[in-house]
This record gives sequence, structure tokens and C-alpha cells, in this order.
Amino acid sequence: MKTLAKLLTAAALSTALLAGPAFAAGKAKNAQDIDFSFEGPFGTFDRAQLQRGFQVYKEVCSACHSADLLHYRNLGESGGPEFSEAQVKAIAAEYEIQDGPNEDGEMFERPGRPSDKFKAPFTNANEARAANGGAYPPDMSLITKAREGFHYPWYVSPFIKMWTGNGGPEYVHAVLTGYSDPPEKEAANAPEGKSYNAYFAAGPWISMAPPLSEDGVEYSDGTKASVDQQAKDVAAFLAWAAEPKLEERKSLGLQVMIYLIILALLMYLVKLKLWRDVEH
Ligand code: HEC
Repeated sequence: MKTLAKLLTAAALSTALLAGPAFAAGKAKNAQDIDFSFEGPFGTFDRAQLQRGFQVYKEVCSACHSADLLHYRNLGESGGPEFSEAQVKAIAAEYEIQDGPNEDGEMFERPGRPSDKFKAPFTNANEARAANGGAYPPDMSLITKAREGFHYPWYVSPFIKMWTGNGGPEYVHAVLTGYSDPPEKEAANAPEGKSYNAYFAAGPWISMAPPLSEDGVEYSDGTKASVDQQAKDVAAFLAWAAEPKLEERKSLGLQVMIYLIILALLMYLVKLKLWRDVEH
């Protein structure tokens, strides 16, 4: 009986623990699901989309958001945007990177190289906050893993998310496109300098003014740069940033499955042969 009581307590406790964060996260609106090319067991990134997404990050987001885990050389690696070596060099060289000290003991600036980290817009968090009305623009390297776009009751959540994923890229898209007028009862206590965004995890008031505008960037591949398109592209780019080895992981997984199927077949044949003359 004692064991049963212990088991029940443990079950109740773990349920409470599981339910806590799920309920807390239920405040923001569910993001709209998007059919990204990199979803599912065989999904791969769309190179052109990653290149467009990088353009949006570079021309718009990088004014406020760092991406500390990325190096310029990553932009040329396979499984990513796959810019050519010359393009990567040219992109890196657009930035002035502080280096040194040199032989005189002085710091100096030089053009960026592919081995450099993405240049951050601010020196530290204080400077970033000071420039953004006290709010901190989070680093974008892992944002699609750190946030989820879909919130379901805890008892169905794991099953649905097996298929949909956490919706991290959808969250980025939803925040970028989800600005709206506040509902009437909220409008009265609108905080100064903030916008209403029902998808923002810590919202609904957000200190980021809508960063995208219609045709705010000019895509070289002729894609129309609507706000929705830019948001999808930059969300895909950030999904790659957070998981640069996604394609490798999926292809290895597939190879392992094929290997296991062949191995299982061989084992079955071996079994037939070994037991052939045995009465059983
Ligand atoms: C002018 C500065 C600025 C620009 C440009 C900007 N942001 Fe932001 N962003 C912020 C700030 C500040 C916050 C934090 C808001 C808050 O805490 O209320 C933020 C928050 C966010 C969040 C929510 C983060 C979270 O914690 O859930 C996302 C996602 C985001 N930005 C993505 C982007 C993307 C993608 C771009 C480029 C298209 C972009 N931002 C451009 C300043 C900016």
C-alpha cells in the first residue's frame, strides 16, 4: 500500500511540474502554422530562401539583434545558404572588426574575414538596452529553439508537437507579422513606446516597433518582398542558424534506418538457416 501511495504522489508531483510551464506559456496566441521546406523527416532548407533570409537579417534585424553563434564562414558551408567563397569574403569584408592589440599595444580596426563572428550591433547588454528604451533585443542565434509558437494543453501537447515541432520559426514569423491595434479594454493602459503584439511570449506589449515594411528590402532573385515573405525568409534563416546541421542529421538518420532494415532482413535469413533442421 505504501508503495502505491508513493507512486501516486510521484505521479501527482510530476504532473504538476509538467503542467506549470505549459500553462504559463499559454498566454500568447498560437502562431499560424507554416509549411516550411525543412520540416518532416526528409525536409531540407531552400537555399534561395536562406539567402533572402540572411539579407533580411543583415539589412534589418542586425541593427538591434546580435547572432553571436554565427561566423561569416558558416554562410558558405553546405547545408546552409551556401554562398560562394567569394560572396562570403565580400560579405565579411563589409564589416569593420576590432582587432589587436598590434605591436604598439593599440587596438585597431580591419575589414572582416570569413573566420570572424557576426559583428554585434552593441558592445554589451547595457548599450543595447540604452538604445532600445530599456528593453533588451535578444540574441537571434537560437531564438527558434528558445521559443515555441504553439501552445496546447499539456496532456496533448507532446503528441501534437511530435508532428508540428515547437513552432519556433512560426513564432518568429508571428511576432514579425502579428502587430495589431490593442483590444479596447487594453488600449487605455498602453505603455509608452510599446506596440501591441498578441504573439509575443512576454507580451502582449512589445518594445520592438514593427521592423518590417512592404518592399523594405530588395531581393535580387525577383521575389516580391512583402512583409509576410520577409518574415518567412528570416524565420527560415534563423531556423538554420539554430540548427546548421539539420540536413546532415536527417540524412544520417535515413541511412541508419536503411542499414537497420537490411540488417534485420539478414538476421531473419540467418535465423531461418540456423533453425532449418531443428524440430520446433
Ligand atoms: C530597432 C531595433 C530592432 C530591430 C531593427 C529588430 N528588433 Fe526584434 N526586438 C527588439 C527589441 C528591443 C526586442 C525586445 C522587446 C521586448 O522585450 O519588449 C525585440 C524582440 C524580438 C523578438 C521577440 C523575442 C522574444 O524574447 O521572444 C523577436 C522574435 C525579434 N525581435 C525578431 C526580430 C527580427 C527577426 C528582426 C528583423 C526582421 C528584428 N527583430 C528587428 C529590437 C529590434
